[in-house]
Amino acid sequence: MNKLQQIYGIVVITAFVTGGLFVFVGLNPEIFKEDTYGWCATDDSTYAEIIFQHYDHPGRKVFNLNCVTCHSASTSEIVVGPSLKEVTQRRDKQWIGEMILHGQKLVEQKDQYAVEQYEKYNRIVHPDFEYLSEDALNDLIEYLELEGGTKQ
Ligand code: HEC
Repeated sequence: MNKLQQIYGIVVITAFVTGGLFVFVGLNPEIFKEDTYGWCATDDSTYAEIIFQHYDHPGRKVFNLNCVTCHSASTSEIVVGPSLKEVTQRRDKQWIGEMILHGQKLVEQKDQYAVEQYEKYNRIVHPDFEYLSEDALNDLIEYLELEGGTKQ
């Protein structure tokens, strides 16, 4: 193979590689957008709605620190406990507050709804959150109301 053929070979290979890259990026223009997640196929609009709704609300922090391991606030998903979506439509805020502070006490007091939930969710004893300040509790319930889609 003479020198000219070698150069020709390199040019052809380079052309193929660059061409391939162009076609690839052309088919996946998303990968150069800053606000997407590279290879993950996410529907940005839904993702943003679910994850980033009411992101700045102080109750969100309380929820994430204490409840998110067992509850979803914005979707109907059952994690360990029931979904809290629209919980403020099912129950009044006074009751929700009591459930959060001392859920098991409600069961012991034979609150009919609390007992039903307790039976339905495998008799998991609800953790008490009596250490939450009144402000934290109010923020949390307001957050549940916002995130659950009952209040705009
Ligand atoms: C260890 C898991 C766990 C954690 C943590 C937890 N929960 Fe629960 N939650 C449950 C289960 C299970 C139930 C079903 C009732 C029962 O078991 O007593 C429930 C029920 C509820 C209910 C009644 C829901 C309905 O649809 O009737 C509310 C309200 C609630 N939890 C709020 C909270 C909040 C707010 C937090 C955080 C401060 C929290 N829970 C933390 C597991 C948990």
